[in-house]
Amino acid sequence: MKRSHAIGQSRLARFPASWLAAGLMAVALAASAPASAASADDLSSETRACLDCHDKPVLNKALDNGETLSLAISAPAYAASRHGETDCTDCHSDVDDPAHGKTKKAIKSRRDYAVGMGDSCNDCHKRQVKAYDDGVHAAMVSAGSDKAPVCADCHNPHTQPNVKQAQPIDATPCAQCHKEIFKAYAKDVHGQERAARGKAAPSCADCHKAHAVKAASFGTGIKDACLACHENAVAQHQEWLPNAARHFEAISCPACHAPNAKRRVNLRLINASTQAQLSEKKGVPLFEERTTAADTANMGLDERALLSLLKEFNQGSGNDKVVLQGRLEVSAGVEAHQISDKEHAIKDCDACHRSGAEPFQSVTLTIAGPDGRPLRHGVQEKVLTSLTSIDSVRGFYAIGASRIKLLDVLLVLVVLGAVSVPAAHMSLKWYFRRRRAQEEAAKSTMQDRNAN
Ligand code: HEC
Ligand code: HEC
Ligand code: HEC
Ligand code: HEC
Ligand code: HEC
Ligand code: HEC
Ligand code: HEC
Ligand code: HEC
Ligand code: HEC
Repeated sequence: MKRSHAIGQSRLARFPASWLAAGLMAVALAASAPASAASADDLSSETRACLDCHDKPVLNKALDNGETLSLAISAPAYAASRHGETDCTDCHSDVDDPAHGKTKKAIKSRRDYAVGMGDSCNDCHKRQVKAYDDGVHAAMVSAGSDKAPVCADCHNPHTQPNVKQAQPIDATPCAQCHKEIFKAYAKDVHGQERAARGKAAPSCADCHKAHAVKAASFGTGIKDACLACHENAVAQHQEWLPNAARHFEAISCPACHAPNAKRRVNLRLINASTQAQLSEKKGVPLFEERTTAADTANMGLDERALLSLLKEFNQGSGNDKVVLQGRLEVSAGVEAHQISDKEHAIKDCDACHRSGAEPFQSVTLTIAGPDGRPLRHGVQEKVLTSLTSIDSVRGFYAIGASRIKLLDVLLVLVVLGAVSVPAAHMSLKWYFRRRRAQEEAAKSTMQDRNAN
């Protein structure tokens, strides 16, 4: 495995003559595919019959949308692939017509054909099909996306190598679509480590999964993936960071580990009893409807709008109370892939625990969309300070969370209809005056602790 990696990476670069490169590649392929038919001669007679026509340098078909589909399948490459012992008709069960190749069959587009062929994998790879169907890409495909991947976008069924074979990092199928993220990853600690030393460091699929890919900010999925490799992370951080586990819940790892990223506060709508993120149902665009109605000037939600929005989400939610939970995260997906070495990570408590700290200058409200990806609406950052009016961030996280029952209390009032919005506003002020005193006391204790 290591050997073919080295060939692909360095020797090719030093010997530019393409014939030599091709020769080396062929050796590498043959050496690494012992389980498949070794050469075209080992293919079944049925498969060879198909290849008699299809192993041609040029064999094209014009599709309805004007695209050209190449019908050429290389016999040696097919024999060396993981499907070398699979017959063509195991997947192409519809090609058994004696008139095949003599009559024209209408195909709308390449995409249409690849999507249609997706079902053919299920006979032999049920586990992967099920996982894929459960993921964000499949959800997008069924919602009509022509950009989200189907099986054949990530696996060429006619040349598929053994997945255990080490590959250069840019061979990951994810790179072809998520280009900017790939570029960032290739330069960060993990990309560099993987390019230099192979599979101990994560590729895209190690953090996101290959098939059951979920929206990245949903739940705690990615944090769990980090901690599966960095098993001692909680203990290591605890040496200098009080209540590290709590910090890990409130802050996404890249928010400290991508030091040049812009950060923001994400207020997530969650179900207080199950702690699960609220999801929008397909075809019922409540979130967009409600946020645009609450923010007609499109200036970002202010605290009154936020409260009345919560009230709306609580109507008809039965006993499940809907609250907001704050989370500090990077503001762009690319930045989550700029993890640097530990020397550059944010260690300064002041980066967050002071008035006007950078991460709290940008606030967004999110709900999980039908496929799990967040739907957002801007929130005025003064919501955080006017809610807390303290130079500590603890108030922010506490919105609706367990420590300070602020919105929980207000919501009970609002839901009961006992108070009008202005009254709720008054009680907010009262609550905060009281909170502030408590926070100030807590803060000086903390400062004392730090000073010691
Ligand atoms: C493991 C399943 C599988 C096997 C085995 C398989 N194919 Fe395919 N084939 C597909 C899928 C999926 C597509 C459509 C996606 C794509 O474009 O690659 C496809 C597409 C094609 C196409 C259209 C051109 C193209 O590349 O998209 C031809 C021609 C073809 N296959 C011929 C063959 C022949 C000949 C064999 C046997 C030597 C074979 N296939 C074996 C799954 C398979
Ligand atoms: C006699 C030559 C010949 C043989 C044998 C042959 N094909 Fe084809 N095949 C063609 C031609 C020509 C086309 C293009 C037909 C068209 O334009 O619609 C084609 C089209 C295809 C396509 C594109 C999609 C479609 O259904 O039209 C697939 C997939 C395919 N062949 C697979 C196979 C498989 C699998 C076998 C073996 C079971 C096979 N072919 C045997 C000549 C052949
Ligand atoms: C008739 C059974 C069959 C069908 C249908 C089939 N495959 Fe396979 N596939 C295999 C076999 C056999 C292997 C060899 C490795 C193994 O035994 O799992 C394999 C290997 C693979 C691998 C590499 C796995 C590894 O461990 O290296 C991928 C990826 C793959 N198939 C994708 C697909 C896709 C995508 C489709 C549908 C377009 C498909 N397969 C349809 C039988 C099948
Ligand atoms: C977004 C890209 C992507 C899509 C879509 C995708 N795969 Fe994969 N698949 C991968 C990657 C990456 C791996 C290698 C995993 C690894 O290295 O651990 C993989 C591995 C596999 C394997 C080897 C066994 C395993 O689970 O590692 C099989 C079999 C497979 N895929 C089949 C499929 C089938 C069938 C589909 C369609 C339902 C599919 N894949 C869709 C990216 C994808
Ligand atoms: C054929 C193109 C394509 C391939 C290949 C592909 N993706 Fe995607 N993916 C998309 C599109 C399109 C979206 C939706 C737009 C977006 O969110 O970037 C998406 C969305 C995602 C999301 C959800 C984004 C969010 O907001 O949380 C994740 C995570 C993801 N992809 C990871 C991967 C991984 C990991 C791989 C490789 C195993 C991969 N993708 C391969 C096209 C692709
Ligand atoms: C509050 C900011 C912050 C958060 C949140 C954070 N880290 Fe760190 N992390 C650091 C700093 C600072 C260091 C360097 C500590 C040192 O060297 O003294 C570090 C060190 C590390 C190290 C190297 C450990 C070692 O000693 O070798 C790993 C691995 C790591 N972090 C992973 C994670 C993961 C995984 C997460 C999310 C679950 C995470 N970090 C969340 C700031 C943070
Ligand atoms: C070390 C783990 C790790 C690796 C490796 C990794 N990601 Fe991510 N990815 C993350 C984290 C963490 C996030 C942000 C999640 C959050 O909001 O907390 C993310 C976010 C994303 C998103 C959503 C972006 C958005 O706009 O919100 C996509 C898409 C994505 N990654 C694709 C990829 C692709 C493609 C690769 C490989 C080139 C990759 N990731 C490699 C951890 C990883
Ligand atoms: C597949 C295993 C794996 C996963 C998953 C993973 N890492 Fe790593 N990580 C590594 C390896 C291997 C290294 C390089 C060796 C080392 O320093 O430990 C590394 C290095 C690091 C470093 C640099 C440590 C230093 O000493 O400077 C940080 C920080 C880090 N990872 C954070 C994360 C975060 C955050 C996540 C999740 C978003 C994550 N890792 C996911 C394996 C992993
Ligand atoms: C990247 C921003 C960030 C950095 C850096 C950071 N914190 Fe925090 N900290 C937070 C957030 C957000 C919370 C709110 C979590 C909660 O209370 O639920 C928090 C909570 C706390 C708490 C209350 C924890 C509890 O038990 O509930 C203490 C104490 C604290 N931080 C101390 C520190 C100290 C000391 C440092 C420096 C060594 C530090 N923090 C660095 C963001 C940060």
